[in-house]
Amino acid sequence: MMRIYTIVLITIGLAACEPRHNSADTSAATDGSTGGARLFVDNCAQCHQVTGQGGPAPGGLPAPDIRQLTKSPAELRQIITFGFGKMPSFKDSISDAQISEIADYVAAQVERHAQ
Ligand code: HEC
Repeated sequence: MMRIYTIVLITIGLAACEPRHNSADTSAATDGSTGGARLFVDNCAQCHQVTGQGGPAPGGLPAPDIRQLTKSPAELRQIITFGFGKMPSFKDSISDAQISEIADYVAAQVERHAQ
């Protein structure tokens, strides 16, 4: 009986924390919108800049302007998962779902920039 009570309490506790956790994370994104934007800022912006325009990457080649590329989300997923040239692979640091979110976000940036 006590154990069930504890589990219920923990579940309520986690549920209560979740929205706060999300909104704190989202505030790091430039436009405060999607998870993909936040993930891009956290994982890609140190080399490609928050805008995606690229620039000098730490210890490597200059990171290209990824808004100019016409990659499909599938190609972007491949690049993020396995790396590309001097760009690191992300398969061990973020989940497949997160990689997909970033790929969709980058593809949307490319489309927006092309208009
Ligand atoms: C440590 C710096 C660094 C980080 C972090 C980084 N990149 Fe890169 N990225 C590079 C460099 C350098 C290149 C160019 C590699 C080359 O040409 O050898 C590149 C290339 C690319 C390309 C272009 C491939 C092509 O066809 O020209 C894409 C798309 C890309 N990165 C997306 C991302 C995304 C999305 C993230 C975040 C998940 C990310 N990068 C994180 C440094 C980085």
